[in-house]
Amino acid sequence: MTEFLPKAKAGKFAVGQFNMNNLEFAKAITEAGMAEQSPFIFGVSEGALKYMGIEYTVAIAKAAAEESGLPIALHLDHGSSFEVAMKCIRAGFTSVMFDGSHYPLEENIRLTKEVVKAAHAMGVSVEGELGTIGGVEDDISVDEADAALAKPEEAIRFYEETGVDCLAIAVGTAHGMYKGEVKIRYDIIEQVAKAIPVPIVLHGGSGVPDESIRRAIEAGVGKINVNTENQVACTNAIREILGKDAKVYDPRKYLGPAKQAMVEVVREKMRLFGSSKQA
Ligand code: 13P
Repeated sequence: MTEFLPKAKAGKFAVGQFNMNNLEFAKAITEAGMAEQSPFIFGVSEGALKYMGIEYTVAIAKAAAEESGLPIALHLDHGSSFEVAMKCIRAGFTSVMFDGSHYPLEENIRLTKEVVKAAHAMGVSVEGELGTIGGVEDDISVDEADAALAKPEEAIRFYEETGVDCLAIAVGTAHGMYKGEVKIRYDIIEQVAKAIPVPIVLHGGSGVPDESIRRAIEAGVGKINVNTENQVACTNAIREILGKDAKVYDPRKYLGPAKQAMVEVVREKMRLFGSSKQA
């Protein structure tokens, strides 16, 4: 990510992290990237890793990089331990997130630093997280009441002590679908982004209105994570086809259109994030 994230921060655009959940997701994201000539990040959660298998995941990402020729990253999403991060790096991931946000600050800094030291020695970038992002993603579930915004002074100290390549801070977004209106604290983004050289990461990008995304990028967000909107597009397409025709049995007949629905979602996000033609 160090090849393209600094450009994103300087050029006031954001690179999308689109989660890879299976082959159709990977193909959809790659096709969208090629059509838009946009850099992108494959995000892979620990749940998705278990589902796809680490070797398959890396092989798919390599094939996507070779076919597209685009600057792309294969990134562990919400890595829970040093061991998982190392396992991914050894398998061929080019980037890892270590999510120590549920630890006290000192412990989060200590653990993140260990990952950064090892990852950087192998040319792999690292994302850290501060504050608690609400919502549900795979095995991680955070109640609204437990979601806590990041404190700017802590975020700045976290960056200075860990040396992460990008920093996810809780600023009001949540994983999964929103029940009400999203209230993003642009002031927190701006304060932290001004004080540190690396971009801020916005998790929970699904369902955030376009105008809010634009304002967040303007304030200093350079990486935006999107998963749920692709999952919904995929599932809706399959539901529609199977609902209309009970005789379909060839999975390609519904997985093809499901993939195409995701291509449209990802292309729109790339245009919104300003990453189109930035490859
Ligand atoms: P959404 O599923 O809300 O888009 O969030 C994705 C995400 O933040 C992955 O880390």
